[in-house]
Amino acid sequence: MTVRERCVLAYSGGLDTSVAIRWLQEELGYDVITLTADLGESKDVDAVVARALRTGALSAHVADARRIFVDAFCFPTLAAGALYEGVYPLATALARPLIAKLLVDVAREEGATAVAHGCTGKGNDQVRFDVAVGALAPELRVVAPVRDWDMGRPQELEYAAEHGIEVPVTRASPYSVDANLWGRSIEAGVLEDPWVEPPDDVYEWTAHDHAPGVVVEIGFERGVPVSIDGRRLEGDRLVGELNTTAGACGIGRIDHVENRLVGIKSREVYEAPAAVTLHAAHHALESLTITRDVARFQRIVGDEWARLVYDGLWFSALRTALDAFVQETQVHVTGAVRMRLEDGVAQVVGRRADRSLYSNNLATYDRVSDTFDHAAARGFIELFGLPLRTQTRVQGALDDSAPLHVERRTRRRGDA
Ligand code: ARG
Repeated sequence: MTVRERCVLAYSGGLDTSVAIRWLQEELGYDVITLTADLGESKDVDAVVARALRTGALSAHVADARRIFVDAFCFPTLAAGALYEGVYPLATALARPLIAKLLVDVAREEGATAVAHGCTGKGNDQVRFDVAVGALAPELRVVAPVRDWDMGRPQELEYAAEHGIEVPVTRASPYSVDANLWGRSIEAGVLEDPWVEPPDDVYEWTAHDHAPGVVVEIGFERGVPVSIDGRRLEGDRLVGELNTTAGACGIGRIDHVENRLVGIKSREVYEAPAAVTLHAAHHALESLTITRDVARFQRIVGDEWARLVYDGLWFSALRTALDAFVQETQVHVTGAVRMRLEDGVAQVVGRRADRSLYSNNLATYDRVSDTFDHAAARGFIELFGLPLRTQTRVQGALDDSAPLHVERRTRRRGDA
């Protein structure tokens, strides 16, 4: 008997990856080992494991990766202020390098020569898996059955029937959904028309009939959320709780036409109650604690971080280098932010920090306590405006010196 090579498959329990178990065995001759990562999307992992084994997997691993996901992937991305194209908190994109690492770990432990994932050939996720595994374990082959086989859903169902693969009993969703603690990503179905408003059945985490508003106080240490209303919580618990509280108030819906790495524009709907709330809170705390220059540069860094994560380059040298920069900027981002969660909006209503740069004596309009040197302002403006005055005197102010054509009404004293 020849020993078959082993392949570790990232297994969700859905139709695609269930068919993939048998396809990897039959078409490529692998023994299949599954890995299911629990990232807090509240799936029944025991049922998934049982299905993997019934479908023919040699063994089935479950990794509870909730805490590491939030602490090592989501929170650093929060600290960087990274939102892809200014809106997407990157939930799906952040999970891929972590799952890739878990696949590699299991592959090495089990002596596998390949890993596999259920991504299609049109999305970003295939790139993220392939690139991450290539970086971590170049010796492993990466197989993407769904990208390679020529089957649509009807053919897959047929394949499942022929091979005695049980089809997951859950009603087939009209959408393609991916979820973890940092957010829920929904695409396809009627959403493919960017003009169509997302129907209510798209949303599962965010309420349409909003709960009455609440005010919550979020505590941060060095840019990391550590407490809600003074209760210290581990990252995964904190995010989970905030998803529930903010989601009930309808917060975190994002409807976006996104530029995929593979060149396609696609309409994406996201639900990310905790991520949206925490980004607003973190930004508010930074407004007290970091300088204008750092804040400006942080926006560039956040943009670049988002692009790297989106493009599957989590394990790159640039991401690591940016991480060092971000950590340095967060040293004084310690304090608390009060948020009013109401009617789909996470509104910052208060912020305080141990090392706040906000000075009441400088900011106040009250003459008595004011310490700002008003006379110095005159000299400052004199020099600040010098190059502009020089330029306009010598080179002209272009059209700006011509009177603006606006309707003007004038009344003089004594006019009727
Ligand atoms: N467009 C998002 C991304 O590339 C989400 C993709 C989620 N996948 C899904 N099956 N809905 O990160």
